[in-house]
Amino acid sequence: MRSLRAARPGAGSGPADRARPVSLQDADADPSEEPESGKAKSEYRNYAEGKLLDRVYNTYLLMHTHQTVDFVRKKSAEYGSCSLRKMGAMEALELLDQLVDESDPDVDFPNSYHAYQTAEGIRRAHPDKGGAADPPPTRSPRGAASRGGVTAPLAPRLVPPRGVAARPGEGPGAVRGAPGERDGGEGAGRGTPPATGPSLGTPPGRWDARRTPPQWAVVGDTFPVGCKVQKSVVFSDSTFHDNPDARDPLYSTEHGMYRPHCGLENVLMSWGHDEYMYRVMKFNGFALPKEAFYMVRFHSFYPWHAHGDYLHLCAEEDLRMLPWVRELNKFDLYTKQEELPDVRQLRGYYQSLIDKYCPGQLCW
Ligand SMILES: [Fe+2]
Repeated sequence: MRSLRAARPGAGSGPADRARPVSLQDADADPSEEPESGKAKSEYRNYAEGKLLDRVYNTYLLMHTHQTVDFVRKKSAEYGSCSLRKMGAMEALELLDQLVDESDPDVDFPNSYHAYQTAEGIRRAHPDKGGAADPPPTRSPRGAASRGGVTAPLAPRLVPPRGVAARPGEGPGAVRGAPGERDGGEGAGRGTPPATGPSLGTPPGRWDARRTPPQWAVVGDTFPVGCKVQKSVVFSDSTFHDNPDARDPLYSTEHGMYRPHCGLENVLMSWGHDEYMYRVMKFNGFALPKEAFYMVRFHSFYPWHAHGDYLHLCAEEDLRMLPWVRELNKFDLYTKQEELPDVRQLRGYYQSLIDKYCPGQLCW
């Protein structure tokens, strides 16, 4: 195992030390690509100050209180089977018109705009790759990054609509499994009926906020559950005190329930849109290379891809994939700006990409 540990910037700020902003300098391999917003890269992801800080902090406080091993297993069972409803990718994207990400300190507008900003940033940087007229998908890594332009509109912060609500006070109820056991691996749950919720074929309806998960189970950075929380997890110093796993004799150790270098595919991540969208992509057989699946699955794992933590859980495959996660992250983060794209002009182009890579009605 080669060492990839990056110098960790000051992170993990809480009320006691909010004066230390989280820097992303380690994640930026290419200094020539500056944000178009006019903001410096160091101004993004500021968890020390800002007009949205209280909302962001409260979202992470709830997340870090309730995301446990048992909670993640429960949500994985509920959503991993992709049995809640059917709809096309564009319809799913349009549902994000109704979601403002409360974990995001940088923007305060509906998430659908951020999806298009991300995708357009990739399209500008890679205008010759991944278009509708390109050859059919291959498994080349280079293609994976370019076709992020397809995945990106779908991946960021997608909420399973009409899902089963999980309230902030909801306690974990699943039976604890063996260490290292992962509920519902790749493709798991196909054909398995959902424990609750509407069946496949539920007609599209209006967004029902009462039946959607809370934001702390959808958005924000992710982190491994079942092992000790590393310092680069945002607000790690002040938000885990009521998480029962923090007092668990196994889960509170460095490796927790995992073997050293077991590989991230065997690590149970906090439940959110990364893993859910990955499951949807796998279940529906998106015509994308494995690098694209990986980028979606771990793009919110900032403690790893931006700060070099949790390397003791990584396998060689994870280190090989790391540059691709960082490549997507450049656009996911630095394309955020208040100037919003004209979605009406862009919709046709992205529909053509959807038709190529993930057409028709999808299972969610
Ligand atoms: Fe995201």
